[in-house]
Amino acid sequence: MTHGKSGRGDAHGKAILMGEHAVVYGFPAVAVPLPEIKVSAEATSREGDDWLDCTYYRGPLQHAPSELAGLRLLIVEGLERIKWRRPIGITIRSDIPAGYGLGSSAAVAAAVAGALYHLAGAPLPRETWLELVAVSETMCHGAPSGVDAQATTGLDPLWFVRGRSPEIVAIPTPMYLVVAASSQPGNTRHTVKQVRALQERLGSGTGPIDRIGALTAASRPAIEHGDYPYLGALMIEVHRELAALNAATSEVEQLVAAALRHEALGAKLTGGGGGDSMVVLAKDIQQQRQLADVLMSAGATRVWTPIVRGTGLSAIN
Ligand code: MEV
Repeated sequence: MTHGKSGRGDAHGKAILMGEHAVVYGFPAVAVPLPEIKVSAEATSREGDDWLDCTYYRGPLQHAPSELAGLRLLIVEGLERIKWRRPIGITIRSDIPAGYGLGSSAAVAAAVAGALYHLAGAPLPRETWLELVAVSETMCHGAPSGVDAQATTGLDPLWFVRGRSPEIVAIPTPMYLVVAASSQPGNTRHTVKQVRALQERLGSGTGPIDRIGALTAASRPAIEHGDYPYLGALMIEVHRELAALNAATSEVEQLVAAALRHEALGAKLTGGGGGDSMVVLAKDIQQQRQLADVLMSAGATRVWTPIVRGTGLSAIN
């Protein structure tokens, strides 16, 4: 039974344009927020047990399935920090498909943390917000770089290097993207582990991770000068390296091939892989729409058509 008092938190999806996996090893990544794919959470004071209501589970928080262990830990930690001693109900509504590399787990954690602090009427400094998301992400993914937490809680395209304050990437010319989900969810924990085993065998200095790092470094001036044909070429190269890491499924390969057959500037897997989604760079808004149709015909289950705009170059925190 609810008790009247409630708090709300919001976050959104993200797409990694360049640098996934390599970002775990200290290389940069470029991530764009997807504010049109939203998550909201409501925290309500109630009587009885602590309660969770989301797409995957509805029931007492303590009996939530193991896939939600990160979220459960975050709620416990959040309640401790806001010194909340009464039973609580958490309701989550999300448009981000879970397991598709679009930041679902980080965004859900961010929305829930926001809702808890709003309920308590406590200020939520950005640093605390990110720490709480990391509690859940570490449980879900093992060793998250933090890029998802940053991109799902802000509205700027980001240049992210692990352990540093992200920078806003200046985008002089609108970027027309198509993000398409395959039919198969991936498992970031699994692919990050698989990549780590390969990386330990190869050692640093050679191999796909280092090449993704170099390609991503080259992408920043391309973005900031609006040289999208070059950016597209770099995306295609990163996709090859991600495929060499066994992160691309045949379904994602088919979607990438379909986009390139229709003359997209670039196309690649986005996120951890092993299923997931892909991101396409289109020449203009007409081609963006056309490629969205092409990808649906090629087997995508959902497509989004974000237009990324951005200014400034200041560091954010
Ligand atoms: C997941 O969205 C991106 C990865 O690079 C993992 C991470 O950065 O924590 C695969």
